[in-house]
Amino acid sequence: MRHLMSPLDFSVEELDQLFDLANDIEANMEKYSRACHGKKLATCFYEPSTRTRLSFESAMLGLGGSVIGFSEASSSSASKGESVSDTIRVISCFADICAMRHPKEGAPKVAAERSSIPVINAGDGGHQHPTQTLTDLLTIRSLKGRLHHFTIGLCGDLKFGRTVHSLINALARYEGIKFIFISPRELMVPDYVTDMLKERNIPYEEVIRLESIMPQLDLLYMTRVQRERFFNEEDYVRLKDFYILDKAKMKLAGPDMLVLHPLPRVNEISVEVDDDPRAVYFKQVQYGVYVRMALILTLLNIRVDEREGEKICLT
Ligand code: NCD
Repeated sequence: MRHLMSPLDFSVEELDQLFDLANDIEANMEKYSRACHGKKLATCFYEPSTRTRLSFESAMLGLGGSVIGFSEASSSSASKGESVSDTIRVISCFADICAMRHPKEGAPKVAAERSSIPVINAGDGGHQHPTQTLTDLLTIRSLKGRLHHFTIGLCGDLKFGRTVHSLINALARYEGIKFIFISPRELMVPDYVTDMLKERNIPYEEVIRLESIMPQLDLLYMTRVQRERFFNEEDYVRLKDFYILDKAKMKLAGPDMLVLHPLPRVNEISVEVDDDPRAVYFKQVQYGVYVRMALILTLLNIRVDEREGEKICLT
């Protein structure tokens, strides 16, 4: 049985297969519409989320399966003091696969160790967010045609943003990637990330101003300042509007540079940018559903026959 805790749990080759499957699902939704008939996904969300939880639910429903779960810790037995390990043993009796989000780093891993069903880490504290990374990689691969040889700028809260940490880890495995980290000093990428890049001789730059590096970028990954992970409100207020991507800044970028954002957006991308064809953050949400469909099928070991659309269980 396989779980997904980090994007590195899949090899580059396995990721390619997963993305091929996601693209096939995108092109042939009908073929997959009964693939998970009779299967249940449990979404166990101890931390608020709209898009990740609904994206998982939409993915499972799109595969003909059903969904159970809770969307905040207060509506689960955690509020009575139940441990994650106990909760997952109980959930294992109710569902075939579980997506878990938790404010504590490592909680989904503890759950996976005790679980008899596959567990997907749907975000653990400031640590990792592997399915967002799969979404980001599928978006880039589908729209750019490759996952190698480009310069990517990551901008905003690089300290607390788990999507950033997961994405850097994942992209570091591809050839010819250059990272440019754009953040205020207080929100720079943690040392363990830059140490990993140094060790592997992967080029990166750290800058404060967005304008100066716009012309160099193939991709710009914007992120919001993570208010809930700040220790005091004053610092948040001071830093929250540090970057605002607007039409004027977009003029400095090349015609093919894509703007991604894991969403939710606060002020860091002005709505006037939404109509720019290079702004792909809403397309990215759609890719998130396809990649979660592909992931559920892969972890449940379900293949769909090429010609007949018949479900074949490989377990
Ligand atoms: C991200 C998250 O939860 O880390 N959102 C998401 O899952 N799409 C990004 C964020 O909250 O800023």
